[in-house]
Amino acid sequence: MTTQQPAPLAQIGVVGMAVMGSNLARNFARHGYRVALYNRTAAKTDEVVAAHGDDGEFVPAHELAAFVASLERPRRVVIMVKAGGPTDAVIDELVPLLEDGDIVVDGGNSHFPDTIRREAALREKGLHFVGAGISGGEEGALNGPSIMPGGPAESYAALGPMLEEISAHVDGVPCCTHVGPDGAGHFVKMVHNGIEYADMQLIGEAYDLMRHALGAAPAELAQVFATWNQGDLDSFLIEITAEVLAQTDAATGKALVDVIVDQAGQKGTGRWTVQAALDLGVPVTGIAEATFARAVSSSVPQREAAKDLPGHAGTWEVADADAFVEDVRKALYASKVVAYSQGFDQIAAASAEHGWDIDRGAMARIWRGGCIIRAKFLDRITEAYERTPDLPLLIADAYFAEAVADGVAAWRRVVSAAALNGVPAPAFASSLAYYDALRADRLPAALIQAQRDFFGAHTYQRTDKPGTYHTLWSGDRSETQA
Ligand code: 6PG
Repeated sequence: MTTQQPAPLAQIGVVGMAVMGSNLARNFARHGYRVALYNRTAAKTDEVVAAHGDDGEFVPAHELAAFVASLERPRRVVIMVKAGGPTDAVIDELVPLLEDGDIVVDGGNSHFPDTIRREAALREKGLHFVGAGISGGEEGALNGPSIMPGGPAESYAALGPMLEEISAHVDGVPCCTHVGPDGAGHFVKMVHNGIEYADMQLIGEAYDLMRHALGAAPAELAQVFATWNQGDLDSFLIEITAEVLAQTDAATGKALVDVIVDQAGQKGTGRWTVQAALDLGVPVTGIAEATFARAVSSSVPQREAAKDLPGHAGTWEVADADAFVEDVRKALYASKVVAYSQGFDQIAAASAEHGWDIDRGAMARIWRGGCIIRAKFLDRITEAYERTPDLPLLIADAYFAEAVADGVAAWRRVVSAAALNGVPAPAFASSLAYYDALRADRLPAALIQAQRDFFGAHTYQRTDKPGTYHTLWSGDRSETQA
């Protein structure tokens, strides 16, 4: 008589079989894990198994209870559904089926306050909740994303090795590490996206300036970006820019970029970054300009109404095209350093406020591969934070200070030429203004303090002695100590 062996349990489960979820499940399977699958519409689960069964061992389930029952303990469930309501709906359905010590991972682009709330609620029930930022799009999910998991450190012990294994690797080092408690992972992913916005806007401005100044065709500029990708600017976004600019539209024979409507969309992570920065009081001007530049592009009635407003009427004369291209490259690099510096300031501020203890050097390290902002120069950022873990300003690190100093004259030439020729370069200009503001001996903030004191008795401090002061503006204008 033979006894039937129970089916082996799955080591990890994925809920949500849209492209990110199914690709992540396939990535786990390809690394030898037995992966439980569940999707609200069962047919989708079956499709994934039918199409990709060869990737490894899948345990498909049509009911959530069967899915949960097919997982080994502590259960590891990765939710890959739309952020917001749909994520809460899955959590609500899942939680009653789970037991003490089980781990729920939210791999979506969730807003970090939601992650803080969910982590607290699940902790009350004896469950671990891990808000994990996952970057790299569909391709990254399948072949190795950058993973930014937050949540309790104990859950990282059970989960981290698996996540590290399926993440991208650079020089043999995984692009995944424990970021910090509760919402830390999703916060860092949010800032990653904010930096992504800034990076994309800066590249867009560089392209637009060269187009206007040199009258160059997109295909010629594709060459410029391809060359830039061999140097300090080596990054995924520069690489794809070269590919996009080289693309011809099959229907019209024109450059594809010329037939795409120039109104940039957004799903909200850039906006969240700016909102959080405002709450923290951290000036992320590069990310904010990039987010607003997308909004300006989509301000259709305003753009229409502005069509005939006066501006620069002449042609942009550039004496030395190669020198101009090099100036733009330097301006782009310097502005990019500013955007990252600001993003890391925001991470430091949130880490201090929430007690997350985030290691900024480690964040730069896990962004080196797999994610949208992956770039060579992230190595330099890691090195800077390794040299000085509590570095107050990334651009003050010796390496970056020198890099920016090398580009500052070019940066000024590019920003002033853009203004003189009526071409918008908001992210370039605002990054330079931020740099100059930080360098300034004195800022007009002193005047603002005096104005505030004048109309609202908001008081001010003096440069020459301690204390808080108020001038009797509507009286005899003598000064009082508050
Ligand atoms: C990633 C991306 C990804 C995405 C965002 C931003 O890291 O894989 O950041 O999260 O592209 O959805 O998209 P929007 O530009 O639509 O806000």
